Amino acid sequence: MSSVDHYTGPANLPEGHGPQELPERFENPGLPEHKPRMGDVDPKVDKRRERIVLALFGFSTLGTIGFLVAYFALPTGKDVETIHRSNLWLGLGLAASLLGIGLAAIQWAKSIMNNEEKVEERHPMASRPEVREGAIKNLTDGAKDSGISRRGLLKSAVVGSILLFPLTIAVPLIGEIGGDWNVSKLKHTMWKKGLRLTQDPSGRPIKASDVTIGSVWHVIPDGLDKTAQPLNEKAKAVVLVVRLDPRDIKSEQIPGASYEGILAFSKICTHVGCPVALYEQQTHHLLCPCHQSTFDVTNGAKVVFGPAKRPLPQLPITVDDQGYLVAQSDFDQPVGPSFWERLR
Ligand code: FES
Repeated sequence: MSSVDHYTGPANLPEGHGPQELPERFENPGLPEHKPRMGDVDPKVDKRRERIVLALFGFSTLGTIGFLVAYFALPTGKDVETIHRSNLWLGLGLAASLLGIGLAAIQWAKSIMNNEEKVEERHPMASRPEVREGAIKNLTDGAKDSGISRRGLLKSAVVGSILLFPLTIAVPLIGEIGGDWNVSKLKHTMWKKGLRLTQDPSGRPIKASDVTIGSVWHVIPDGLDKTAQPLNEKAKAVVLVVRLDPRDIKSEQIPGASYEGILAFSKICTHVGCPVALYEQQTHHLLCPCHQSTFDVTNGAKVVFGPAKRPLPQLPITVDDQGYLVAQSDFDQPVGPSFWERLR
């Protein structure tokens, strides 16, 4: 048996404390008496707290400077290691920048701003002129209470750190664009006539005879790692290869683009560019895990479900004289999300 007492209703209330005894209204207890903080009465403490806030804004500024230094001093190269290192230091700089501003704001509100509680009486919600004047006065008083008007150095620190912070977003954005405004290169990938299809990530060439019915291969172009920007090239050129029984193929995007039931499609989803990584062997559907766009491989990779608006572009393929799969050409349309094609 449990020894826990259960609530059994008003009958258990002590005598004289039934619900009917509760008063209709409680008296307003009012605000507790305001107790000044140490900083309110001791200028030395006030100064010390101001220095803490200054230090925190300074920390934020250092974080922003660190971010910018990391951005320029740690360029990303071909290997993933450089990307990890750059991201780590950019992240630390960004974190310090935001954390400094956040902590400084908290410290400022707790130790410098006026903390005396005030009661605002309810009044009809109307924008009469005197109400607006009152609001402006409240804002002016609030600015006075924050202490910013008489603390010039603090004002500079807060303005400086807040003005500097957007650089953490603007500089990488502008820097990544650089001087290269040639968007037409987004229409092309490194696929070209005769370039071998190789396994991702090993780079081993693929023999047509190794691609069995029902299998799916993740494919990159031969020589990808020797390009100047392999990750950028890979992001456009990755391909999925599947083999169907040729009798299952209802239609192709490009006549003659497949080889004995082997079809190659861009792996970049035409919705917003996630990798289409799932293949349903029974239905011959390629599925994008991001928003479930589904493409029918037997029917030119047309969209059968989900938000994508156009089929996955097909890469025309054939075999070379050694039986390895090769591209017949580049894609005949831009891969990925549909905004590039507007430029065509
Ligand atoms: Fe593929 Fe959205 S990115 S469905």
